[in-house]
Amino acid sequence: MQYRRLGHSGLQLSALSLGAWATFGTRVGRSEARELVAVAWDHGINFFDNAESYAQGDAERMMGDVIADLRLPRDGYCVSSKVYFGSAASPRPTQRGLSRKHVHDACHAALARLRVEYLDLFFCHRPDPDAPVAETVWAMDTLIRQGKVLYWGTSEWPAALIREAADLARKHRLHPPTMEQPEYNLLHRRRVELEYAPLYGELGLGATTWSPLASGLLTGKYNAGVAEDSRLGHPAHAWLRPGVLEEGRRLERARAFAALAAELGLAPAPLAIAWCLRNPHVSTVLLGASRVAQLLENLQALDLAERLDAAAWRRIEAATDV
Ligand SMILES: NC(=O)c1ccc[n+]([C@@H]2O[C@H](COP(=O)([O-])OP(=O)(O)OC[C@H]3O[C@@H](n4cnc5c(N)ncnc54)[C@H](OP(=O)(O)O)[C@@H]3O)[C@@H](O)[C@H]2O)c1
Repeated sequence: MQYRRLGHSGLQLSALSLGAWATFGTRVGRSEARELVAVAWDHGINFFDNAESYAQGDAERMMGDVIADLRLPRDGYCVSSKVYFGSAASPRPTQRGLSRKHVHDACHAALARLRVEYLDLFFCHRPDPDAPVAETVWAMDTLIRQGKVLYWGTSEWPAALIREAADLARKHRLHPPTMEQPEYNLLHRRRVELEYAPLYGELGLGATTWSPLASGLLTGKYNAGVAEDSRLGHPAHAWLRPGVLEEGRRLERARAFAALAAELGLAPAPLAIAWCLRNPHVSTVLLGASRVAQLLENLQALDLAERLDAAAWRRIEAATDV
């Protein structure tokens, strides 16, 4: 494994990490989850990502359960949660969003579900137009001062809002956001590469990037249709189909990528993940896996990122840019 600093912070995260979205508590049961976390840990993964909303809290329960069962040393791994969407099927107004109340309640609920005394990383899962940014910054700072959160950050916030939060924190001597969690893959590059570009240096922002395979599309598994035993074939995740398959000629670009990977004699999944790793602003690439074999294949990205030459990466970018 390779380790990278979370932005300008001192926290060293594994360059590849494991998330529980759309897997734990839906496609993945407890024993498979245990095996996934065990294999991840054995390969040096030290960051496990979660959110209050994943499987309505069941993903965090399952992750907390298996981490405790595996007796991972608390000082050896990092775990995250995210607040915004709520964990109830139909959250009441105080059960969602980024008010001081919900940030407080969501943190404590995540601590209980994950069976830990503090969250290493705590993200605001989306911006909340109904909560003043200052209120959220103060709420996060309070949790940090109470020792319940170590680093707080955002997920899919516009750059201007991240800057506003950081400016407010500086002005009031509060803890600023340390990291952002954006989507980043060969089919979705703009925000990480352009919009956030000034923030890495100016704010020391780290990036824990998600969906390196665009929900599996970049493995080539949807090139000839949607199989029942895939994420998009699962009834709980069918709502993802239009976004994953249809927008921006994504299927066509994924097919071109798979064809090039075949020509290069490489498996598409680790190749797509390796491409994410090559961006030095990426602190960690969050992997998703519904099976151990997928995780093992995806871990090969670490070697691939070093092995290919610049000309090959240019061809890969050109193929997905069609
Ligand atoms: N902050 C946010 O808003 C946000 C949003 C989304 C995700 N995330 C985080 O990022 C993590 C990763 O996102 P993601 O799960 O979308 O990542 P992804 O890598 O784009 O998709 C992972 C899925 O692709 C399939 N897959 C993975 N490896 C494969 C392989 N080698 N061969 C064939 N299929 C393979 C599996 O689905 P099937 O086997 O079921 O088809 C797997 O669950 C999440 O768990 C979560 O922690 C955050």
